[in-house]
Amino acid sequence: MKEIGGFFELECPFRSELHSSAIKLNTGRNCLEYILRVNNYKKIYLPYYICDVVFEPIRNLCIQHEFYHVDESLDPIFNKKLSGDEALLYVDYFGVKRKVIELLSERYDNLIIDNTQAFYSNPIQNVDTFYSARKFFGVPDGAYLYSNKVLDDPISQDCSYERFDHLTKRLDCSAKDAYSLFRKNSSLLKNQPIRRMSNLTEKLLQSIDYASAKLDRERNFLYLHDFFKTENKLDVDCANINAPMVYPLFIKKDGLRQDFINHKIFVATYWPNVLDNTNISSLEKDIVSCVLPIPIDQRYCTEDMNFIIKSYKEFSCGY
Ligand SMILES: Cc1ncc(COP(=O)(O)O)c(C=O)c1O
Repeated sequence: MKEIGGFFELECPFRSELHSSAIKLNTGRNCLEYILRVNNYKKIYLPYYICDVVFEPIRNLCIQHEFYHVDESLDPIFNKKLSGDEALLYVDYFGVKRKVIELLSERYDNLIIDNTQAFYSNPIQNVDTFYSARKFFGVPDGAYLYSNKVLDDPISQDCSYERFDHLTKRLDCSAKDAYSLFRKNSSLLKNQPIRRMSNLTEKLLQSIDYASAKLDRERNFLYLHDFFKTENKLDVDCANINAPMVYPLFIKKDGLRQDFINHKIFVATYWPNVLDNTNISSLEKDIVSCVLPIPIDQRYCTEDMNFIIKSYKEFSCGY
């Protein structure tokens, strides 16, 4: 029975949801598990340059895996033929690799696209594709999956409220104060079963102004690119950007990441786990160590981008 009256819940305006027609699940890694299970894949090819949480479903399902390298444009170096029970996973790195995905989709049937860094990139028809919302918006979890097949098993609904406090604490205090909660809540996402997206996350995702966030991201991205394009070793195709996750600045300058962090410009490392694999190329080592994912999201304006550029100019005097 519907509850009527009593105290109020958190209020979120209803706008729209970008991936409203997708299968809504709890995490990106569980979208991958869903894809692997529903297709009964026995082996997956995946890039060396990948986040370690992607291995959770591969381990859970005891699926074989084999790595492939990427080149200096982050394109896959892969020309194997896939058999029916083998899949190829590729990541739309930083949200700037759409063209590669279109080419791969023409070449391979059993393609899995990890769009956790490309929330705005539309799925290609008949290509299993998944997204993770928390890389783009202030939500504790939540993921979208496009797949033609439906898993038969019943899936219960997730609850997110106990993983929510880093978001509220960051608002009331600061990122520094809330960071340990963020770490705690991120680790609570590990080894969770596949669940349907929580009500809380769904309501939050229905309250976002997606069009405005997209414009902000693109404006900031292009502004940074205009300044960094000659120094950036990554050849970024600016003609086709679609609200990328970050501005990926590939630049070999020791200490630059830490300099940014010291200036409270939080530049993550994607992904330290890759360095543990002794078979990676020197290029992949450089990509992990030297690609600086600079924030360009909807929280920031041109003035903030100018601050980033000004800070970079200051640090650069020391190199
Ligand atoms: C490339 C990549 N794929 C998949 C995932 C998994 O997404 P989620 O954290 O929603 O499970 C992540 C991040 O955690 C990621 O960086």
